[in-house]
Amino acid sequence: MNSRREDFLKKYSLSDENFPVHIAVIMDGNGRWAKKRLMNRVKGHEKGADAIRGIVELSREIGLKYLSLYAFSTENWNRPKTEVSALMSLLERFIKNERSNFLENDIRLNAFGELEKLPDKVLKKLNALMDETRSNSTMCLNLCLSYGGRNDILHAVRKIAADVENKVISPDDISEETISANLYTKGFPDPDILIRTSGEMRLSNFMMWQLSYAELFFTNTLWPDFTREEFLDIIRQFQTRDRRFGKV
Ligand code: IPE
Ligand code: IPE
Ligand code: MG
Repeated sequence: MNSRREDFLKKYSLSDENFPVHIAVIMDGNGRWAKKRLMNRVKGHEKGADAIRGIVELSREIGLKYLSLYAFSTENWNRPKTEVSALMSLLERFIKNERSNFLENDIRLNAFGELEKLPDKVLKKLNALMDETRSNSTMCLNLCLSYGGRNDILHAVRKIAADVENKVISPDDISEETISANLYTKGFPDPDILIRTSGEMRLSNFMMWQLSYAELFFTNTLWPDFTREEFLDIIRQFQTRDRRFGKV
């Protein structure tokens, strides 16, 4: 462990033992945050986008390897057009604003989901930054965009079915690993921790396969108000949990 990380762990009362490898977050509550202030929902999304930076910075400091953020679901396409387009503009702005941060801090950006549905202009910028950060290895930031857990599985089933048709694999050889290896998250470990903000206690179609053994944390805090302190608190709680994975 490098000494900087050791200092951060000490400062935050975290242990290197039982340290999570992958944290996934359902960033929910932007709309309610705005409503409470009699503001337009888009203001809440702006604040929500701003809240990401501190969590990414902290994750990197403490040596988290993978942070996955649910930013836009397959169902979110059904929101009013104006809200969807505001979210797409915010995504574009996020890519532009965070570029130097990712490059300077050795952060790799990935995106999971049906990306072809994103507006061309946004997709181009997203692909460019993913390419630019491809060899960064200190931390992976995964944005789940136009992402649905069922869509993820459907997409994998289609690929595996094509492999069967092309005789690349026989049905008997399909294993759980085959499925994992064909999901958008291929090559990434399953999340150890799932956090959902805003008080809702549901998965809303997030990583249905990958969350099988994640430790779940729900907080009433709305995403724009979610702080580094609360994030650390969840990791500390995680470190005290007994993960049995079905054993005794
Ligand atoms: C989460 O906040 C962001 C997205 C789903 C894009 P919401 O927009 O769902 O906020 P609430 O749940 O309406 O408060
Ligand atoms: C889940 O939040 C999706 C994201 C946070 C991106 P939603 O606000 O869309 O979920 P529901 O509608 O409350 O289930
Ligand atoms: Mg919501």
